[in-house]
Amino acid sequence: MNRKFFSLLAMNLVFSANTAFAAKDSCDAKSSKKAFAKCAACHSINEGGATLLGPNLHGIINRYSGALEGFPYSPAMMAYQKKWTEKELDKFLQDPMKVVPGTMMAFGGLRKERDRQAVLCYLRNNS
Ligand code: HEC
Repeated sequence: MNRKFFSLLAMNLVFSANTAFAAKDSCDAKSSKKAFAKCAACHSINEGGATLLGPNLHGIINRYSGALEGFPYSPAMMAYQKKWTEKELDKFLQDPMKVVPGTMMAFGGLRKERDRQAVLCYLRNNS
């Protein structure tokens, strides 16, 4: 077996692992909407949506933290300077006040992986 074969084999394994993951992470509209209801108390998500207690989350995936023009972020969020990849969002949502100490987002976090996956699913499809 040559190297090329090995790398193809590796790619295949990665690909099937991803597919298995995607199947497990059932991203369904109904339960994800329910999961986002907690966030909707403080965040609108439609384009140009209202500023509630928190900033509008339209296009939040891959937006920089503290970047929505005109929203009065906390100094902590302004200083955080991260790109909100799904991975960063997952980390933040688990325990916002620990990940960004001093944030004004008064939310205890989503400890369950399933709940965070559902919220991310909602963001992916609606923001
Ligand atoms: C009690 C109100 C409240 C709830 C509930 C809440 N947030 Fe927030 N959120 C805020 C506030 C206020 C900020 C601004 C934080 C700061 O400036 O420190 C914020 C900031 C954020 C940010 C960073 C935005 C940016 O532009 O950098 C994200 C992402 C976010 N919230 C997502 C969520 C999600 C997803 C949920 C639901 C799981 C949620 N929030 C629940 C009030 C809330």
